[in-house]
Amino acid sequence: MKLIVANWKMYLTLRESIALANKVTRYTLHVTRYTIVLCPSFVAMEEVAKVIKGTQIKLGAQDVEPEKRGAYTGEVGLDDLRELGVEYVLVGHSERRRMGETDKLVNQKLKAVLKSGMRPILCVGESWKIRRSGKARGYVADQLRAGLKSVTQKDLKRVVVAYEPIWAIGTGRPDTPKDASEMHMWIQKIIRDISIFANKNRDVPILYGGSVNAKNAGTFLRAPGVDGLLIGRASTQATEFAHIIRSA
Ligand code: 13P
Repeated sequence: MKLIVANWKMYLTLRESIALANKVTRYTLHVTRYTIVLCPSFVAMEEVAKVIKGTQIKLGAQDVEPEKRGAYTGEVGLDDLRELGVEYVLVGHSERRRMGETDKLVNQKLKAVLKSGMRPILCVGESWKIRRSGKARGYVADQLRAGLKSVTQKDLKRVVVAYEPIWAIGTGRPDTPKDASEMHMWIQKIIRDISIFANKNRDVPILYGGSVNAKNAGTFLRAPGVDGLLIGRASTQATEFAHIIRSA
């Protein structure tokens, strides 16, 4: 089943998040073709969890602190997420890497999420400079190998990967479905190289993210190798998101 993940980033207040969660819940009541995951802000998470309770919508987090409890001012921990019923956690989003998050920390987060029984969504993607220089594949492969370092074969099957070219995020300039598709095939190959077992049955879904909207969502979802979408801005607008859900 295709996975559609809504990353609300810091676009919405608590009240707006509750209102949107209510709307999404209503129009996805009969949607069975997709797994839908909402990633609200940490502040909105508990209320959104209440709204989606009993529906097939799942709760995701935008980030997590990998350490166990303790003196980590301002951070949000794994136990909190688990208590709220979070099933998916984004790790290594480019907006966090931009703030200094290293591959090493991304790898720590990914393993901590797996250990807690939740599924990490490992975000990878190159800058425009790298894409232009023809080095995108190597760059993404390095990010994958670093992010998945020392993950067990068994755990690897619970990982989700999101390919989000940085230059396509929030720019209104998405990748072409053809180029995205080729990168998804490449990512599949890297995962198969890492693990002989992991990806025989496409256990590791690969999502596309970057300026997905109601007009292009269907084309991306039908592109070979694309197992779902990671959507930012368009997922925060109720009607736009409804069209996306209906578009494929
Ligand atoms: P946009 O859909 O706003 O381009 O954001 C993509 C993204 O970063 C999702 O994580």
